[in-house]
Order: sequence, then C-alpha cells, then structure tokens
Amino acid sequence: PTTKLWGGRFDEPTDAFVEAFTASVGFDQRLFREDIAGSTAHAKMLAKVGVLTTAECDKIIDGLNGILLDIERGDFSWVVAYEDVHMNIEARLIDRIGDVGKKLHTGRSRNDQVATDVRLYLRGAIDRIELELTRLRAGLVDLAEREADTVMPGFTHLQVAQPISFGHHLLAWYEMLTRDAERLADVRKRVNILPLGSAALAGTSYPLDRDYVAELLGFDGVSRNSLDAVSDRDFVIEFLSAASVSMMHLSRMSEELILWTSAQFAFIDLPDRFCTGSSIMPQKKNPDVPELVRGKTGRVYGDLFALLTLMKGQPLAYNKDNQEDKEPLFDAVDTLMGSLRAFADMIPAIEPNRERMRIAAKQGFSTATDLADYLVRQGVAFRDAHEIVGKAVRHAQNAGCDLSELPLAQLQAFSPKIQDDVFAVLTLEGSMAARDLTGGTAPNQVRIQAAAAKKGLQRS
Ligand code: ARG
Repeated sequence: PTTKLWGGRFDEPTDAFVEAFTASVGFDQRLFREDIAGSTAHAKMLAKVGVLTTAECDKIIDGLNGILLDIERGDFSWVVAYEDVHMNIEARLIDRIGDVGKKLHTGRSRNDQVATDVRLYLRGAIDRIELELTRLRAGLVDLAEREADTVMPGFTHLQVAQPISFGHHLLAWYEMLTRDAERLADVRKRVNILPLGSAALAGTSYPLDRDYVAELLGFDGVSRNSLDAVSDRDFVIEFLSAASVSMMHLSRMSEELILWTSAQFAFIDLPDRFCTGSSIMPQKKNPDVPELVRGKTGRVYGDLFALLTLMKGQPLAYNKDNQEDKEPLFDAVDTLMGSLRAFADMIPAIEPNRERMRIAAKQGFSTATDLADYLVRQGVAFRDAHEIVGKAVRHAQNAGCDLSELPLAQLQAFSPKIQDDVFAVLTLEGSMAARDLTGGTAPNQVRIQAAAAKKGLQRS
C-alpha cells in the first residue's frame, strides 16, 4: 500500500471507495507543467531566503525536471492513492531524490499550490484562446474587405429590412469577437496574481520572498490576503462568463451560417471538408460544424453555472468543494478553443453566392426606407413620407412587383413630388452607398472599418 504523505495522524487506511471518490488525479494531472513550474520557483526562493541550501535546491530542481520529462514521455504512473497531481509529483520526487525531496513542501500548502497551478494554467489558456480569436478575427476582416461591395438583405425580425453589404455583416461579427478578446484580456489581469505564500490559509512563519516567486513565474503581483487567495475562484467564474459570452457569439454566427447554407437562403456554400452527409438521404450535406458549436454553447453556460453554484455556500477559507472547479474549467477551455479553431479554419473558406444574396435583397421592398428618405429631401415630413411609401408598397405588392418596377406615373399617384431621379435611389447599390456615415453599411465605410480593424489586429 502507498504511504500517504499526510498519514501520520491516521489509525486505519482510507476506505477504498473514499480514496477513489476524493481523488482528483484523474483530471488534475493536466496541471503537471504548472505544478512543476510552481514547485521549481518555490524551491529557488527557499534557497534564496536560506531555508534550503543551494545543493538541496539543485537536487530538487533536477528531480522535478526528470519528472517533467517522464510525464511528457508518458513514462509516469499516476497513483490514485496519492490523490492529486500535487502529491503524485511530490511522492515521486521523494522516491527519486530521497529525503531532500521532503523539504520541498516547506512553507507551502496544497491550498496555495493548487490556486497557483490553476492560475498559471488559466493564464496560458487565455493566451492560447486569444491567438485563435485573433486568427478568426483576421479571417473575418479579410473576407469583409473582399465582400465590401456584395449586397445582401439585412434583416430585422428575420424579415427583409434594408440592403446591406455582406462585408458589413461580417464586420458586425468582428466587433463582437473583438469585445470578447478585450474581456479576456481584462480577466487575465485578475488571473495573473500569485497566491503562493498564503500556505493553508493564514500565511506562513518562514521568511518567504513572494515577490521573487511572482517574478520567476511571470505574475504581475502577489495576493494581499491569504484567506482570500486560497479560496477565491472568482477569477475562474470571470473567465467562464467571458467564455460564455464568446460561445454565445459563436452560436449566433452558427445560426446564421446554418440558415445561409440552407436551400431556402443559399447565400453561401461551405466547402465539403467542413460538412458531413446523411446515412440515409444521399443528397444531404449538413453544416455540422456550426450546429455543433451552437450545441456546445450550452456546455460552457453549464460550466459557468457549476462554478457559481460551487462557490455560493462556501465559508472561508479553502474547502474541498474547490476541487470541483477543474473539470468545468477544462471543459470550457477545450470547448471554446475547439470552437474558435473550427471557425478560424472555416470562415476564410466561405464561398459567397453573390447572385442569390442580390436576388434576396431585391425581395421584400428593401429600399422602401430610401423612397421615404427621398420624399423627405423633397420637403415631405417623415411621418407623411412613411404613410405614402406604405401605400405604394401595398400597391406594388398587389401588382406583384418591386417599387423600382412601378412606372413613374404610378409612383406619382402616391406623391407628385416623385421625379424620375427616384429610380437611382431605389437601387440596392444606391441604398447601400447612401449610408455613408461612421458605422453605416456603405461599401466605402466597410473598407474604412476593415482597414482600421487590420491596424488593430497588428497591434494585438
Ligand atoms: N486536489 C485539491 C484541489 O483540487 C488540492 C488541494 C487540496 N487541499 C486540501 N487541503 N485537501 O483543490
């Protein structure tokens, strides 16, 4: 039987089921790199302040490096009886280098150790997520620039509203994802604080140099309250909420991609490599990737709720409940990373069907607002113009044609102010180009925004 690192005060071995039930090594072994980095910094610091000799520190660091290589090579057996990643590595260290290994845990608790590991892990995860987000945003901007002049119907209530540039629509997605990136960068500031030195809950009597550890591990500062530092997981909750918002955005994008690839819209095509078929219907090509991303959004919301609920009843300081923070966190990181990667690969491969988008934009009287604006320019009050155009639309609808297809004389029956320059206003291109103000859909504005976005991406 494995000797427990904490076995001193116990009279009988742990119940076999309890041992398995309380163990986290099955999932927290993912933290081995962070755990070893944290231990290495801790050992260096202990030597610096004279708690370890240089020789002892060197031995410990050698041992930890050896273990790191073993784990990376897959040559490490994780033992459930050692409970978690921390005690597995520590026990292996003692095996490997003997009694010196027993000095590593001086002035430290698993409580500040695990908080440090999770923060290091999440910092790295945020950095990886930011890279994928940047790749996706860059793909959107490129496509938007290419499609600045492509006209599509803009919708409200999923009813045709006004003609817009396809590039403008893509840049709307870009804006959402840019805020996501900003949110993550902001969360990272609060993640990147070192808890080590808080020990179990009250700090430690050793003269630890916490700033030195922070510097070695790249933290921006050290925690100011030991009770808070070992028990706080709101940095995980903040991440999960930023991740949830980001998944919500990807899910909305998914929904549109799914609609657009349907035969009824047919605005775009997704290459075969991003789709799958049906086992029974030979004709099918399904947009599985966006569908799955839309579905996976629920997992990440669930992860957020798991953590909020996990924390709500906990008295200070550390409680074993906190071991339950890891699986939701890992799940959310994996889900968001995977979804971003799929999108970053897929977006540049979108094949727009410009003709179909144009035809769709012509339906539903999408330039009716332009006719009202035209009348306003002729001196009609907007409310009256709205009423006039509404009548003209009903007339055109009964006649089964677009406003632009009505003869001038018929239009003039609704308002004598209408002249033959109206037809320029009723074109899709005229309508788009007219909205030439900051934030508007004019292709000119789309190009300005795309150029600004590119500059922003270069800075990030
Ligand atoms: N495996 C534990 C966790 O994930 C490590 C900390 C355990 N500390 C303790 N006092 N039991 O939270």
